[in-house]
Parts: sequence; C-alpha cells; structure tokens
Amino acid sequence: MGVLGATGTVGQWLMQLLDGHPWFTVSALVASGRSAGRPYGEAATWRLDAPMPRWVAGMVVAALDSNPDCDFLISALDSSVAGEAEERFAQLGYPVLSNARNHRMDPDVPLMIPEVNWQHARILPQQQARRGYRTGFIVTNPNCSSVGLVMALKPLQDAFGISEVSVVTLQALSGAGLDGVPAGAIQDNVIPYVSAEEEKLESEPLKILGDLNGEGFSPAHFRLSAQCNRVPVLDGHTEAVSVRLRAQAGEEEVSAALSEFTSEPQRLKLPSAPEHPVLLSVERDRPQPRLDRAASRGMAVTVGRVRPCPVLDYKFTLVVHNAVRGAAGAALLNAELLAAQGYLGAREAPASTTP
Ligand SMILES: NC(=O)c1ccc[n+]([C@@H]2O[C@H](COP(=O)([O-])OP(=O)(O)OC[C@H]3O[C@@H](n4cnc5c(N)ncnc54)[C@H](OP(=O)(O)O)[C@@H]3O)[C@@H](O)[C@H]2O)c1
Repeated sequence: MGVLGATGTVGQWLMQLLDGHPWFTVSALVASGRSAGRPYGEAATWRLDAPMPRWVAGMVVAALDSNPDCDFLISALDSSVAGEAEERFAQLGYPVLSNARNHRMDPDVPLMIPEVNWQHARILPQQQARRGYRTGFIVTNPNCSSVGLVMALKPLQDAFGISEVSVVTLQALSGAGLDGVPAGAIQDNVIPYVSAEEEKLESEPLKILGDLNGEGFSPAHFRLSAQCNRVPVLDGHTEAVSVRLRAQAGEEEVSAALSEFTSEPQRLKLPSAPEHPVLLSVERDRPQPRLDRAASRGMAVTVGRVRPCPVLDYKFTLVVHNAVRGAAGAALLNAELLAAQGYLGAREAPASTTP
C-alpha cells in the first residue's frame, strides 16, 4: 500500500499501526514538495512516543504528482490538496481510502465505519461507472469526533431508535495536525471553536447511520446539535452526549446495548478490529482521555457515566482516540474490511498511463 500525507500526524500514526501488519506492506510514501526526495526519517518531524519504525526511516518520500508503486492508497493529505489529488489517483486506478473531509459527503462516496455501515461499500460499482474509474475508487472515513459519536449511537439506534442528540466535544490538540494550535493560545484555556467541526459533526453521523438504497444514500432522521471545543489534551477527544430514544428503555438496557455491541469487523476477525468496539466504564469518574484513549490499542470507544437525562432520555460521556480510531486506524480498518469484501484487487491503470 501507499500513504499520501505520510509525514503528518495521521501519517505517523499509520506508520506505527502498519508496523508488523499481517496483511499490508508499505511500498510508497507521498507528501508535499517540502518532503519529496528526502528520506522519511528526515522529512517527518516525528511526534509519537514510540520510536519511528526502522523500515520507514530510509524510504524516500515521493511528490504528489508521482505514480506510487502500490495496489491502493490511504490518504492523510491536508484538505487543501486532498480533493483533487484523490480524484486523480482514483482515475489512475488506485483505490483511495481517505481521512480528508473533501469527498465525505459526495453522494456516491461511502463514509464508512466498518462496525456501523459496512454495507455502504456496495455503492462502489456505481461510483466507478459514474466517474469512469476502472479499478480505482474513493472511500472516506469520518471526522474524528463523528467516529466516536456514531460508534456509541449505533447500538442505541439498532435497539431503541434515536430521535434527538446533543453533543458537546472537548477535542485534543493532535486533532488539529502537526502545527494546529499555538501553545500560548491553549495553555490554561479552552477555545470554544474548532473550524468547520460543528458542521461536520451535525451532518456526517446522519449519512453514516442512514441507508443505502437504489437511489443512493438517504440520511438517518434525527435532530443533532453539536458544540465543539479545543482543550489542552494531547490525544483523545471527550464527548458529552445526550440522546432521546424512540422506544422506552431502562438504564440497564441502554448500558447492555452499548457493552454487548459487536459487528462485521469482529465477525470477520479483521486484524485491527477491537474485540469490543464500545467499552463500558463503570467507574464514576471515567472515561478520561489520558486513561482511556489507548483502550484496545486506540481502536475502541470508551463510554461511561450512562445516566438518565432530565431534558432528553439518557446522557453519557465517551472518549475516542482521535488520531487512531478517529483517523489512521479508521482508514486502516476500512482497508481491511474492503480487502475482506474483495474490493482491493490488483490495480489496473488507464491505457494512456501504462508504459
Ligand atoms: N489529526 C487528526 O486527528 C485527524 C482526524 C481525522 C481526520 N484528519 C484529516 O486527515 C488529514 C491529515 O491530518 P493531519 O492531522 O495528519 O495533518 P498534518 O499533520 O498537517 O499533515 C498533513 C500532511 O499533508 C501533506 N501535505 C500538505 N500540503 C501538501 C501539498 N501541497 N502536497 C502534498 N502533500 C501535502 C503534508 O506533507 P509535508 O509534511 O510534506 O508538508 C503532511 O504529510 C487532514 O485532511 C485532516 O483533516 C485528521
């Protein structure tokens, strides 16, 4: 596989998650002109606690206009360039699994969380026919806050139905990329604004939890209000959620629906799938980002403080690792799912580009 935007925050997490991966080998790295032509070890300003995997340090980073030697691509490109670049790669025959926001809401592009809407990949032949892609296609994973919220809502939607949701996020610094938030602005502070985040969090969950039929995607029908804040936490988004359910449910039933939830990736035993996608915490002061973000190698969402809400029906707090389950691990699990579903065959370049 190849990685677009390999040098950034999400790219670095991908290198870590792909170290020793049983199915995929990284054969190409792509980033900006600043990094192109340089060994990854020099081009990437490594920010993770674990050391940079040795196999990647000497790999030379290619430019965005290259033709990477790989069967498919995960994109962690900055959104200023992702839209056009991902279309070009899909046209060249590469399946592109993207973290970027550009194509998430396109009517023919799946916005996928494997535990929630694995069936949405069925639109891919339609996308290929409509856009003239042969073996290429674009699949996206959601915004980092949407992933956590939707993974907690899915078991409740299945068991009881949902009619209203209110969510307040406390989002980590790494969600803003390597150079996202100046230290002086966030220390001793909370910033009640994350650019374009509320719009994403109010629209993406409805597409993901919606249906795919002959007409395309039809969004889920419930009201959703989001308020997003940046807080001085390094990794791990916290979300305070209130929900109104369509059917009456006791507190124990709500907790059981969350903790007993398993889905397609668990059935398929995908290598990066957590055994339990939603972990229920019973301690009264959990989940906390520092203590819970790494649960199941960062791939599970931890939910706690499930209790009645005097305005809606129930409220709870969740923690999701924004850079793993919310980004790098989300794209990787999509790749594993698509491989298991048979969508990641050998790449076929268009006739004009074959030597
Ligand atoms: N961080 C998160 O938690 C998170 C969560 C969900 C989704 N996302 C999305 O994932 C993507 C990557 O996020 P990030 O946090 O990793 O950002 P980042 O740290 O700023 O990294 C951006 C990457 O894009 C590359 N890039 C920038 N301009 C480019 C250009 N003109 N041509 C080619 N490559 C270019 C950079 O390469 P150079 O190093 O060479 O500049 C770098 O590899 C974004 O679209 C973001 O919205 C991030």
